[in-house]
Amino acid sequence: MDLVCLEDFEQQAESKLEKTARDYYKSGAGDQFTLRLNREAFKRLRLRPRCLRDVSQLDISCKIFGQQLKWPLGIAPTAMQKMAHPDGEIGNARAAGKAGSIFILSTLSTTSLEDLSAAAPDTYKWFQLYIYKDRSLTEKIVRRAEKANFKALVLTVDAPIFGHRRADVRNKFSLPSHLSLANFQGEQANGVVTDGGSGINEYVASQFDPSITWKDINWLKQLTQLPIVLKGILTAEDAVLAREFGCAGVIVSNHGARQIDTVPASIEALPEVVKAVGNDLVVMLDGGIMQGNDIFKALALGAKTVFIGRPAVYGLAYNGQQGVEQVLGVLRKDFEITMALTGCQKLSDIQSSLVAHESIYSKL
Ligand code: FNR
Ligand code: LAC
Repeated sequence: MDLVCLEDFEQQAESKLEKTARDYYKSGAGDQFTLRLNREAFKRLRLRPRCLRDVSQLDISCKIFGQQLKWPLGIAPTAMQKMAHPDGEIGNARAAGKAGSIFILSTLSTTSLEDLSAAAPDTYKWFQLYIYKDRSLTEKIVRRAEKANFKALVLTVDAPIFGHRRADVRNKFSLPSHLSLANFQGEQANGVVTDGGSGINEYVASQFDPSITWKDINWLKQLTQLPIVLKGILTAEDAVLAREFGCAGVIVSNHGARQIDTVPASIEALPEVVKAVGNDLVVMLDGGIMQGNDIFKALALGAKTVFIGRPAVYGLAYNGQQGVEQVLGVLRKDFEITMALTGCQKLSDIQSSLVAHESIYSKL
């Protein structure tokens, strides 16, 4: 069967993944209200296509932090990708490189950052950081990422602890024993083992520093010259603080709805962040991106680029690097169709006037 949309890859992946891994990748927090909302909120936005515009030659390229990219879609950091397929993070990163997309590696990867960088040297890579209680360990990993040619530091700020993912607790989630968190050794590498509940939540509770505050941004800034991006911002207030603390960008994100349920969908939170800091910081988004229309709507509301998390993992589970390449290919084609049919030749043609909330049509 031809796989023609990201839901097709999702179905294929779910049939291939072992239950514990499938539930880990799929789950959101709590009732999973926001998990559903992340996708549904895009459906509440209508496209307002303009006609009779020359769309014979599309240019969907863009620049982020001075890096030329083929299109405004990157791969978000997702942990423990070798559970999905032996190609793991390397397959994902190589597919991103071929597609001209940013690849963000998770701190909790099953491939070391050095091995990843060596295996995907041409991929434009960012490193996603979690701050451990062991600060010297955290400092070392930042220095390793700089040395391994990662071009930005993405500090995840919405996860001092992990959200309540019910399936992981029921499944007593542990990382399969043949895998480890490859950026570490000892307890930090092999500690994702259930102690009666979700092994990943128990690991995070024992290892991550829940006391971090804005002053730790100053600590990071004196540690590295890399641009610092804060991932997990959902309010204008925190976006303004990100600017005041000298960050280069923010990713408007609810962590794939895995942290706290009933927060807004990422696309719902985007406008207030863009209004607050859109002229000063690079504002990006992840959460619920499943088709070209979604990418278009996020850009129309002010995001400079967007990222996918689960769809890339599902591509991996379906067929390794090649599966991710297919996911990116389907998504890119879909985005190009949206561009052409809304009358947009290049990204700067995507204006907020091309998107409207459904409510304006109910007033007619
Ligand atoms: C994530 N996410 C995540 N974020 C992060 O900063 N570090 C991480 O290690 C992970 N790990 C992770 C694992 C899995 C299985 C998922 C689903 C998500 C969040 C991720 O970067 C991103 O914010 C969301 O996945 C985006 O939503 P979609 O595209 O999955 O809908
Ligand atoms: C998660 C972590 C790894 O959402 O960020 O599972």
